Amino acid sequence: MMPNSHYKGQMTLNLTSVRSHFPALSRSINGRPVVFFDGPAGSQTPQGVAEAVSRYMLHTNANHGGAFTTSRESDALLQEAHQAVADLVGTPDPDLIAFGTNMTTLTFALSRALARTWKHGDEVMVTRLDHDANVTPWVLAARDAGAEVRQVGIHKEDCTLDLDDFAAKLSPRTRLVAVGCASNAVGTINPLKRIIEQAHAVGAQVFLDAVHHAPHAAMDVTAWDCDYLACSAYKFFGPHVGVLYGKREHMERLPAYKLRPAPDDLPGRWMTGTQSHEGIAGTLAAVEYLADLGRSVSARASSRREALLAAYDAIQTYERDLGGHLIRGLSQLPQIKIWGITDSARLTERVPTIALTHAQRPACAVAEYLNHHGIFVWHGNFYALSLTETLGLEPEGMVRIGLLHYNLAEEVDRVISVLGELR
Ligand SMILES: Cc1ncc(COP(=O)(O)O)c(C=O)c1O
Repeated sequence: MMPNSHYKGQMTLNLTSVRSHFPALSRSINGRPVVFFDGPAGSQTPQGVAEAVSRYMLHTNANHGGAFTTSRESDALLQEAHQAVADLVGTPDPDLIAFGTNMTTLTFALSRALARTWKHGDEVMVTRLDHDANVTPWVLAARDAGAEVRQVGIHKEDCTLDLDDFAAKLSPRTRLVAVGCASNAVGTINPLKRIIEQAHAVGAQVFLDAVHHAPHAAMDVTAWDCDYLACSAYKFFGPHVGVLYGKREHMERLPAYKLRPAPDDLPGRWMTGTQSHEGIAGTLAAVEYLADLGRSVSARASSRREALLAAYDAIQTYERDLGGHLIRGLSQLPQIKIWGITDSARLTERVPTIALTHAQRPACAVAEYLNHHGIFVWHGNFYALSLTETLGLEPEGMVRIGLLHYNLAEEVDRVISVLGELR
């Protein structure tokens, strides 16, 4: 039985120890330490993850299913990676985890298979808050099947989903609701339980994009009762590998696009072609990095799942403080507008991914200016295209300061002060 509730213990991160795992964080430019606020597009990598990738390639490199030692060792490692990611997303069943190139590719694969079960008159729901990887695959699949697409709107003032609009657009014809767990642009955490319950009540399935959620908060496919979930290891301290979870009854039955000699059982039927075994070995190491973090803050965490829950509790507590600090500092700068939730009483409704615009400078100029000061941030729409269109921010987009648990309060102070000097 998986412990699904959040694990409560002594949850204080030791930032010196955390940062010592990430060689990139010791980089300097012009005598000043670099600040990595680019995490939403890909986190930095712990030493142990890079070593696991290289160890695999140097000592265990073999294709799947052979009757010889390295192939067997490789298969055992891959099996352990399925189990580790099952622990990460919150299912006891490692066969429900498929690896692939990235979230986008896996979502296209699933969308094509689902489209084969849809028909004219069916409906598919996407949102204006989501990354396009959780929009366009479904729009194209719906078009192929002759189904209609409905799009849930947002409240522009705080970039939250309009749940009344969602409820109004749900119908017995809705076959799938595709929604993100957390926005990669503005940080909003969506009320998943409520959305999933409402969708299931009309017979619709729910696909969750957990890419932006995974580095910040625990995933729990069992408690959420979602039908599918996808995320990407390179956002949670691993290599470039995508992850797809689906309930057994769907993943066994859906008509996957697969080759004839490829396995028809789980998870093989969803893992097309030869995988990035080294990437999967690194993904296992990334989960172990998080579990070790959990063990370091809670001696009571006995299983890997418990250790992961302890890690995420510590990460969330720390990141909420840090995010609140950044929002308060930026709010003092009259030339800066933050898009999304800014109320300090509502920090539990967001992750510390802060999108902003400057009154006089385009987003790309602000990012260049920060780069000049050794601070790395992204600008543009971050592929959350429906959102930037809805907010009227195309084509410039926004500047995104993405905090992760390895960032420091001094770094937040630095970006506030440097932005304050940009007139
Ligand atoms: C929220 C979100 N969903 C989906 C994606 C796409 O993930 P991938 O690069 O693994 O295809 C991203 C990538 O930035 C993302 O942030």
